[in-house]
Order: sequence, then C-alpha cells, then structure tokens
Amino acid sequence: MHNKRQMKIGVFDSGYGGLTILKAICRLLPQYSYVYLGDNARTPYGTRSYEVVYNYTLQCVRQLFELDCRLVIIACNTASAKALRTIQQNDLPRIAPERRVLGVVRPTAEIIGELTKSGTVGILGTVGTIQSNSYDIEIKKLFPDVDVVSQACPMWVPLIENNEHKSEGASYFIKKDIDKLLDKNSSIDTIILGCTHYPLVEEQVRRFVPNGINMVTQGKIIADSLKDYLARHPEQEQYCSKGGSVEFYTTESEQKFSEYASIFWQEPIEAKTVFLN
Ligand code: DGL
Repeated sequence: MHNKRQMKIGVFDSGYGGLTILKAICRLLPQYSYVYLGDNARTPYGTRSYEVVYNYTLQCVRQLFELDCRLVIIACNTASAKALRTIQQNDLPRIAPERRVLGVVRPTAEIIGELTKSGTVGILGTVGTIQSNSYDIEIKKLFPDVDVVSQACPMWVPLIENNEHKSEGASYFIKKDIDKLLDKNSSIDTIILGCTHYPLVEEQVRRFVPNGINMVTQGKIIADSLKDYLARHPEQEQYCSKGGSVEFYTTESEQKFSEYASIFWQEPIEAKTVFLN
C-alpha cells in the first residue's frame, strides 16, 4: 500500500517524442514528480500491428507502475490509438484498479471545435494512428459537422529518432506528405501534428504550410488536460508526490538516450536503462 503523496506521474512514449509532452506538463505543473519511459529499443511503433503495439504498451505501463506511478500518460498517439482502450477496459481492472492510464487523442480532439472556422481539419500522424481512424472517430463524436482529412507520414518518426530531421532529405518527405494532405481538401484551416515526435519538425512543417492555416501541437493541450483531470480527481491527485522531480528511463542504452534526449529537453539529463519483462 502506498501512502498519500508518495507516487509519481508516468509519461510514456515509444521513443523521444513524449518528451515534448512532458516538457509542457512540467512547465504547467512543476510541483509533481514525473517518470519518463521511452521504449527506444523498439521504436518506431507507427508501422506495427495492433497486437504488437498493445503488448509493448502494456509492458511499459506495467513498468511505470513498478516505478511507483499512480497515473500514466500514454504520450504517444499510436499507442493511445491502438492500446489505450484495451488497457483501460481489460487490463487495469485486473492489474491496478486504483491507478489510471490516460491518452493523448481524446484531449486533442476535444479542442478541435474551438480551432477550426472552415470546419475542415487535417491530421498528420503515423501510419498506425491514421489507419486506426481514432481522430476521425473522436472528433466526429464531439463535433459531427467537422470534416477530418488525414495523411500518414511514415518517414518522419524514423528521421527524428535518427537525428536526420533537419537534413535536406527530411524536407523532401515532409513537403511530400503536407502536399498530399492539402491536395485532398482545399478547405483545411487547421492541421494537427498528431504525433508527439512532430514538434521537432515544426519549423520545417511551417515552411511548407501556407500562412493562414493553424498548426496545432499537443504539448500544451495535454498539459492543460492533465491539470483539469487532477483538479476533477482529488482521489488520484492526493497520491501524487509534490517533490518536483523528473526521472528518465529508456529500454535502450542510457548513454545514447541521455545524449540525444538532452537536445529535446534543452538541458542535460541522465537516463537509466530498464529491461522489460
Ligand atoms: N510518438 C509517437 C506518436 O505520437 C509515435 C512514434 C512511433 O511511431 O513510434 O504517435
């Protein structure tokens, strides 16, 4: 049994992308204690099957529970789209009924109605996120009149994970996918970067998106939604430590993670390796 105010908030991604979410969360809610887990050994998840993404995500959620997390944010659209519901409905009641796992698709969908004037929204994401239709489904539930146009960007995450996202080669793929999205519908006035890795290519994306189209990244949205969640759920919040610490774990080499993640995090970090079982 845990005493109140001793547990942490876990943030999980297949790789480095979730750091963009954690950064925004720490900016808004610096008082809590966080644990980040990147499954760098098995990234990317974007092209993997439901079964594989579900199994990997569940293992990572269990690991974060082992590390004393009361709440886990799946800061990965692919895993939120493919694994979150099953984990919430089938696994949590069995493995940790008192803890919670939250995702990033629903909170992003919730603000779409406020952002689009034309009523047509573009979604860029991994193959897994786009094929799952999760954004279409969630947005339609909340805003039935909004049209959703999607485009998968299979090369973006591998380019980012390999630190090649600022290269000329990367610009080729970024432009190609944006052009494909915009060619599908000329009324798009809002584009969601529906992958937590994409803030790293935000500048390049802006070069190819016409002025006047709103580009939405998820960090602030997820941070606001967590703040709201904690205010509405004191029975969870009361378990969250106010130690203001951040720990980093990776399933890959800790040196490699620390070096590369420091670029995303904009200050030096020291990660530890965990082996999942
Ligand atoms: N960062 C993850 C997302 O938001 C995707 C990464 C991957 O393909 O592993 O979808």
